Amino acid sequence: MIIKVLAVGDIVGLAAVEYLKKNMWKIRELTGADAVIANGENAYDVRGIGCQEAKTLLDSGVDLITTGNHVWGRRDIFRMLDEDPRIIRPANFPASTPGCGNSIINICGYRFLCINAQGTVFLDPLDNPFIAVEKILDAEEGRYDFALLDFHAEATSEKIAMGLNFDGRIHMIWGTHTHVQTADETVLPGGTGYITDLGMTGPVTGILGSAPEPIIERFKTHMPQRFSVAEGETVLCGALFSLDTSAKRCISVRRIRIAPSDSN
Ligand SMILES: [Fe+2]
Ligand SMILES: [Fe+2]
Repeated sequence: MIIKVLAVGDIVGLAAVEYLKKNMWKIRELTGADAVIANGENAYDVRGIGCQEAKTLLDSGVDLITTGNHVWGRRDIFRMLDEDPRIIRPANFPASTPGCGNSIINICGYRFLCINAQGTVFLDPLDNPFIAVEKILDAEEGRYDFALLDFHAEATSEKIAMGLNFDGRIHMIWGTHTHVQTADETVLPGGTGYITDLGMTGPVTGILGSAPEPIIERFKTHMPQRFSVAEGETVLCGALFSLDTSAKRCISVRRIRIAPSDSN
């Protein structure tokens, strides 16, 4: 059996949430996705995701929400992170923080261990993500059929290293956080589907989804600015992973980029 998982890049802003509410099932149909895993860390207003946005996404055809360095942007998500296994945060945050870094979901009758981890190059010095992911695989051994990882990281090298380190043990590994889609989707030698970054889902006309002016001003003056979501149409970026359940390997990774005009 072939199982298709659609991974959706960082959702930026409430307009993107509304777009997915309206179009997610259509996009599932269009791509043939059996499940959707979406990074929601910027869903509220670049920084964070609130319960309302998370619930809307989960009610609209998203099966699991992953997050990243902006996970703490909205306090009201803390309780949901503790209580709802359909939203996870990077596993290598301190154990005392709300939520959990992994969750098992059912896709077509198979148990998928979903892991979220955050890079430490050019980001906060969290626990070592390689060791954190290794620990989860050990702890969950025997409880899952397939595994996937959203590695939320800045450095390309750290992401590729993560892919190769877990090649053959985690069946799908994708990167998030940079908001710019990379063109290196591949199936690694051990059978892991891999892409360095999915890109973002939101107004791609801004600077990584934010309105350009305050960001340009900050680069020019080094003074603090208030960032807001850019205007413009939502473009969905992600990747579609096809997994062969008998061979226990990923057989293809396809980059996805859908502009509103495509999904009408
Ligand atoms: Fe992001
Ligand atoms: Fe991020």
